[in-house]
Amino acid sequence: MRWDGRKQGRLPDVSGIWLKGAPDAATRKHIGEQFAKLKAKYNEEFSRVNARFIIGVYERSNVADQSRLRSTLVKSIEDDKRRHIEKNRLDITLPGTARAPGIPHPLLKTMHEIVAVFHNLGYSTNLGPQVESDFYNFEALNFPENHPARDTQDTLLIANQQSRPSRDRLLMRTHTSPVQIRTMIQQKPPIRIVIPGKVHRNDAADATHSPIFHQVEGLCVDTNITFSDLKGTLDHAMKALFGSSVKTRFFPSFFPFTEPSADVQISCIFCNGKGCRKCKHSGWIELLGCGMVDPAVFAAVTAERRKLDPADDTYNPEKITGFAFGMGVERIAMIQHGISDIGHFYSGDMRFLEQFA
Ligand code: PHE
Repeated sequence: MRWDGRKQGRLPDVSGIWLKGAPDAATRKHIGEQFAKLKAKYNEEFSRVNARFIIGVYERSNVADQSRLRSTLVKSIEDDKRRHIEKNRLDITLPGTARAPGIPHPLLKTMHEIVAVFHNLGYSTNLGPQVESDFYNFEALNFPENHPARDTQDTLLIANQQSRPSRDRLLMRTHTSPVQIRTMIQQKPPIRIVIPGKVHRNDAADATHSPIFHQVEGLCVDTNITFSDLKGTLDHAMKALFGSSVKTRFFPSFFPFTEPSADVQISCIFCNGKGCRKCKHSGWIELLGCGMVDPAVFAAVTAERRKLDPADDTYNPEKITGFAFGMGVERIAMIQHGISDIGHFYSGDMRFLEQFA
C-alpha cells in the first residue's frame, strides 16, 4: 500500500512527477518505459518478500499454531472455491434469455394479406422492375407525352436520359400498372394477376404521403368480363380485409388506362358509416382506384405483340375485356390499425414495431 497504492502510494507519485516533468514526448515515452520496468521489478520483489515473510512466520511458530495456520489456509482456499461456484451457479429452472425471432413488418403483413385475398380467388402474383421506362409507366397506359394526366403522378426521373428516345427514358415507376402491360405482352388471356410492389413519386413527405410507398395492383382479362365482375371482386376483397359488415360504393373517377373508371369507397370502419373525424363526417373512406381496361391499352399491347407476330389479335377489345384496380398498401394498413402517421412504417422505431409482434 505504502508503495503502489493508487492514492497514497510512492510509485504512482514518482511516475506522476517524472512524467509531468518530462520536457518532450520522446523523453516521456522513455521515462514511461523505465518506470514500467521498475514497477515490474518491484512487484516481483514484493511477492518474494511476502512469501518469505509468511514462510518465516510459519517456521517460527509452534506445532499448534502451524496446524492452525494450515487450516486457515485450507479454509481460505475452500472459501474461494465456494465463492467461485456460488457466483457462477447456473439455475436451470430460470427462464432463458428470450430472443425475439422477428416478425413481418406491418406493411408487408398487410401486403401479404391483400395478395392472399386474391390468391384465394385464383389470382397469381407478378412482379416488375422499380426502374421503369417511360413506355411502360406512361405511354402504353395511355398517358401521352406532355399530357396533363402525367401531372397526377409527379415522377422521379433517372438522370442523363436525354439522348434516348422518349419511350426508353428511365424513371422510378410511379405505380404498379406498368406490370399490367408487361404481363399482357407476354401472356394470353385468361389473366388474373396481382402485382404487389414499391413505387416512387416526387411527393413531399407528410402524415399521409411518402415519396416511396407500396401498391397492390390487380388485372383480370378474359372473355365477357364486366363491370359487375369488378364490383363483386372488390366488394368481396374489402369484406375479406375489413370485415363482412363493410359496404362498398363506386364513384365515377378518371384514369387514362381504364374506361369507365371508379374510386372505391368503403363504409367507415371506425363509426360504421355514422360519420366521424376519420371519415371527415361522410361515413365513407376512399380506398382504391379501378376501372375497365381502356381499349387504348389493349391497342398498345397489340402493337407490341405484333412486333413478334404481325397477325396477333389476342387482345382484340371486340373479343376480350378486363378490369384493373390499384390500392395503396400504407393507406390500408393505416386504416386497419388506426395509424395516423405514415412515417411510423419507415422509422424503425421498436416501440411502434413491437406492437405488431
Ligand atoms: N395506377 C393507379 C394509381 O396509382 C391506380 C389504378 C390502378 C387505377 C388500376 C385504376 C386501375 O393512381
